[in-house]
Amino acid sequence: MKLLVEELREKRTLGDAGLMELLTSDDPSADACLFAAARETAEAHFGRQVFLRALIEWSNICRNDCLYCGIRRSNPDVRRYSLSRESILRCCENAWRLGLRTFVLQGGENPPAAEKLAGLVAEIRASWPQAAITLSLGELPADTYARLRQAGADRYLLRHESADPAHYARLHPAGMRLENRLACLRTLRELGYQTGMGMMVGSPFQTTGNLLADIRLLERFRPEMIGIGPFIPHPATPLGAYPAGSSERTLRLYAILRLMHPDALIPATTALSTLRPDGRTAGILAGANVIMPNFTPAVERAEYTLYEGKASLAVETAENIRKIHEELAAIGRTVSPSRGDYQENLSKDTDNHV
Ligand code: 5AD
Repeated sequence: MKLLVEELREKRTLGDAGLMELLTSDDPSADACLFAAARETAEAHFGRQVFLRALIEWSNICRNDCLYCGIRRSNPDVRRYSLSRESILRCCENAWRLGLRTFVLQGGENPPAAEKLAGLVAEIRASWPQAAITLSLGELPADTYARLRQAGADRYLLRHESADPAHYARLHPAGMRLENRLACLRTLRELGYQTGMGMMVGSPFQTTGNLLADIRLLERFRPEMIGIGPFIPHPATPLGAYPAGSSERTLRLYAILRLMHPDALIPATTALSTLRPDGRTAGILAGANVIMPNFTPAVERAEYTLYEGKASLAVETAENIRKIHEELAAIGRTVSPSRGDYQENLSKDTDNHV
């Protein structure tokens, strides 16, 4: 196992059999070795700094009906909301004051509303010229992506969810296609967005072979950001009775992907923290280097339930940031004061990471 980790570290890739072995191992000492290599690689590229992103869940109105997602269109139990302009600007202000330099506007898929967001993106861009703006609004027409980019958005998160078309089809309603999603990702990249992809670990029907296909897709596309979290069932969805994904396997994927993509921005996701209280630090210690604290106002936050028991539902924003600083200090990490843009071949001795 140690040899496989060394090969992965050096070559930044590995054959299928080797990757399968790393993914399926249940030997804790193999994990320890894998995580240590990933940690060292993250440290060599980013130092001991972690980037924070302010997550603002601006609307849970969604035209889509993904079979796993709690805010799917056909869940009638959700009270739908969209944050007002004032409320979103207050979230940004709050995040900026607490030292965050990236605002992530995430919401359900709603093309007309997304179109209207362009004005707000321009306003955020003008008010905080030094902040990065990340969007996560699903599949939109190319001209909407273009308009949002022009308004000042820098990055876009759009998980591919599964690289296997047959598996993808079992997680999504008829009409949604992996091909469309990949076309969106290519458009985003062409428009100059730093682009994030990713998938859930342990989503229903997922095989280890599916995860291998995800790894290979990421390897081909080389997104700047890679977002991965365990599947967590939401009882009001068609897939609500399937078991949650494994947090160990999620951590293993962080480590494998860190070794394959030394410069990528990889968050320790909220879904992981939902499964285990030490999810953030465990993620960082397995090679992740981003944390995305939630800045959605408490009332609306309760309605943005993609899955059950979502972590940090009740935690006050400032208190949460203080806690993150503390947790990171305890593992010898600090919060980066920078925007944390993707930089290729970043290495700590070139000292250009701040
Ligand atoms: N469990 C875990 N992650 C989920 N997402 C949606 N529903 C769930 C769930 N039940 C993830 C999807 C989506 C992201 C915003 O949240 O991967 O892309």
